[in-house]
Amino acid sequence: MSNDLRLLVKNAKQIVLVCNNGERYLTKDGMKKFALMENASLVVGKDGLVKAVGPAGLIDSQYKEASFENVIDASGMCVIPGLIDAHTHPVWAGDRVHEFAMKLAGATYMELHQAGGGIHYTVEHTSRASPEQLLAGLRPRLLRMLRAGTTLAECKSGYGLELDAEVKMLSVIEQARRELPIGISSTYCGAHAVPRGKTASQATDEILKVHLPKLKDKMSKGELSIDNIDVFCERGVFDLNCTRAILKAGQDIGLQINFHGDELYPTNSAELGAELSALAVSHLEEVSDEGIAAMAKSKTSAVLLPTTAYILRLKQPRARDMLDAGVIVALGSDFNPNAYCCSMPIVMHLGCVNMKMSMNEALAAATINAAYALGKSHLHGSLEVDKQGDLIILNSARWEHLIYQFGGHQELIRYVIIKGMVV
Ligand code: NIG
Ligand code: FE
Repeated sequence: MSNDLRLLVKNAKQIVLVCNNGERYLTKDGMKKFALMENASLVVGKDGLVKAVGPAGLIDSQYKEASFENVIDASGMCVIPGLIDAHTHPVWAGDRVHEFAMKLAGATYMELHQAGGGIHYTVEHTSRASPEQLLAGLRPRLLRMLRAGTTLAECKSGYGLELDAEVKMLSVIEQARRELPIGISSTYCGAHAVPRGKTASQATDEILKVHLPKLKDKMSKGELSIDNIDVFCERGVFDLNCTRAILKAGQDIGLQINFHGDELYPTNSAELGAELSALAVSHLEEVSDEGIAAMAKSKTSAVLLPTTAYILRLKQPRARDMLDAGVIVALGSDFNPNAYCCSMPIVMHLGCVNMKMSMNEALAAATINAAYALGKSHLHGSLEVDKQGDLIILNSARWEHLIYQFGGHQELIRYVIIKGMVV
C-alpha cells in the first residue's frame, strides 16, 4: 500500500465532498444529500485517484504505516473539490475593451454584432493569428483559471468559423491540454456566427458537408480529440432548424451536445436540447416554462452564466425556477472577450446574489453538475473514492468564505491540487 500513495491532506477543518454516493448530479431533491465532513483527512494515490476520505482519526489509524510523497497539514483550513468551468471561449487574439466602453454607453450586444463588431471582430483577429500567438494568449488565461481554483474547463473554438481557422483553434486547445495540468473538455463551435458573405443555411451546409467530415477524419487519425459540439442558436444567427441539423450531425460523429440557446431572444432552444437529449444548453436567460419542464424531464443540464447577464445587463437566468422544476443546474464563467472573467468563485457569488442560488447549490453547480454538463461526472466533481484527486485548499475555517469574500479568492486559495499534485 505504502508505495502507491501520493498525497495526504490531514486534519482539515472541513472537507466538502459535495456528494458521496456516486451521484452523477445533484438536483433540488439531491441537495439534501450535499455532503460535508468536519475534522477530516483525504488520501490520493499515485494513480491520481482518491483512495480515502473520512474522519481525521480514522484515516490516521488506517494509514499510520503508510508513506506519502507529500503531506499537507490542513489544520484550520477547508478542502473542496476542484472547480469546474462548464463554458469558456479562451482562444482568441485581440480584445474588446473598446466595445466594453460602447456597451457601458448603451450599445447592445446585438447592435455591435450586426455592425461587424462583437464575435466578428474577434474572428478577424483570431483568423490572422498564428497558432503560436494563440497558444501564447491561451496559456496565461488557463493559468489564471487554475489560480482561481478551476481544475477542469470546457474550451470552445468558434472564432475561426472557416474550417482551417477552426482546426487551428482546436489544435491550440489540444496543445494546451498536453502542456498544462488543467483538465480540458474541448468543443467545436464552428457555428458561433454566420461568416460574412454567407447565409446561415450556406454556413450550415458547409459545416455538415465539409467541416464535420474533416473533423471526423482528424479524430479518427488521433490528430485531434474533440469532446463536444456547440451552436449559437439565436435570432439572426443560427435558427432552430440549422441548429438541430448541426447538433445531430455532430452527435453522429461522436460529439456530445452542449450549445448556446435562449440567450437574447426566446427561441425554444431548451425544448430542442431536451428533444436531442443534449448534455447541456447554456445561457437560457429567455427560457420558456415549457423549456424548463422539458429540460427537467430529459436530464439536459442548464449551464447558467451569471457574468454574461451581469455585463450585458440581461434578464437574470431563472435559476430558482429551474432548480424548483428539477433541472440540473451548472455554472460557467463564459470567459470570452465580451465577458472577461475567469473566476468561478466570482461566478458562484453572482449566482447566489443575482440568481438567488444558495451557496451549497452554487458549489454543486460549479463542481458535480458542471462535470455532468461535460459528461465527466463519473470521474470529476466530488471528493469520493476512485474519483480524480482534484481539490483546492482554502485558508479559512468555513468553505463559504470562497463565495462570501467577493473577489477574495486570490488570498483564500492556498493550494490547487490536480491528480494529487500541487500545481
Ligand atoms: O456565450 N453568445 C454567444 N457567445 C458568447 C459570446 C462570444 C463573444 O461575444 O465573443 C457567449 O456569451
Ligand atoms: Fe458562450
